Amino acid sequence: MLLRDLIDDAGALRTCWPSEPQVYRRDPAALRALLTMAEVDALIDSECIPSRNVVLLRDGAVVDPREYTDGDMPRPGSIRAHLNQGQSISLRLLHTMRPGLARLKGDAQRETGCRTHINAYLTPGNCQGLRYHYDPYVTLIVQLHGRKTWHLHPPLVERPTEEFDNFIPRRWTAEERDYLAHTPPSDVVLEPGHVFWLPRGWVHSPETTGEEPSLHLTLALKQRTRAWLVEHLAEAVVRHVRADFEGRDLVTPSDLFEGTEGLEWARRYAIGALLGIDAEASARAAREKARNT
Ligand SMILES: [Fe+2]
Repeated sequence: MLLRDLIDDAGALRTCWPSEPQVYRRDPAALRALLTMAEVDALIDSECIPSRNVVLLRDGAVVDPREYTDGDMPRPGSIRAHLNQGQSISLRLLHTMRPGLARLKGDAQRETGCRTHINAYLTPGNCQGLRYHYDPYVTLIVQLHGRKTWHLHPPLVERPTEEFDNFIPRRWTAEERDYLAHTPPSDVVLEPGHVFWLPRGWVHSPETTGEEPSLHLTLALKQRTRAWLVEHLAEAVVRHVRADFEGRDLVTPSDLFEGTEGLEWARRYAIGALLGIDAEASARAAREKARNT
């Protein structure tokens, strides 16, 4: 399965990121080719998921792994016991464990240039995993089993990037907490076959609806920013100066602590190196990096 099989008009992503949440409808049986509840149950009960690939969630927060692991593997029975207590789990980086998801991840990254990963979330019936939080990148939610209601608010932080936070709920300000406590959210109910586009920054709090457990995949598309392009150029300048005999000259303590000559040299050097960059070669390298890292 490829990205274009999950969303309508995947080609339009090349010129514009949708900024509003939207739901696409697909054949539930086709989506189950990616992962089934029976496969997840087998992974859990055969005790073959390494600790690095599983996160337990309790009361909207990540459980300290020392509670359930002794090292590389979770303690036998600990994940099932956690689920039986009505708590949620996340299976991380499933594209490293399943060929079909590796194909989807690779295609999505090549198509969009976004750093991409795929996780799964399993939440027992009438339970909640994470509370209100946002992700600093777009997520594509593929509902495989059960129903889940997503309580949504438009972004409270404009243009969040990964430095703001990732996955773990941000500390809301008093004003934001008040807003979230008293403003009715808009709700989206996902059923098997639904694929949900959740743009970066949208505040969300999902919970299962009904007795059945909910299973969904999250395809995270970590969009590149203009700052990422600047970092790409800055890395080229650093590589250039490190390879340059002049750049290896020492800075004296007096110039470092009292003078500005060294910094002025560095500023002039950086500007010159930037202007000397081959734009075509640099663009090719940025494309390659976006598709593969
Ligand atoms: Fe999220």
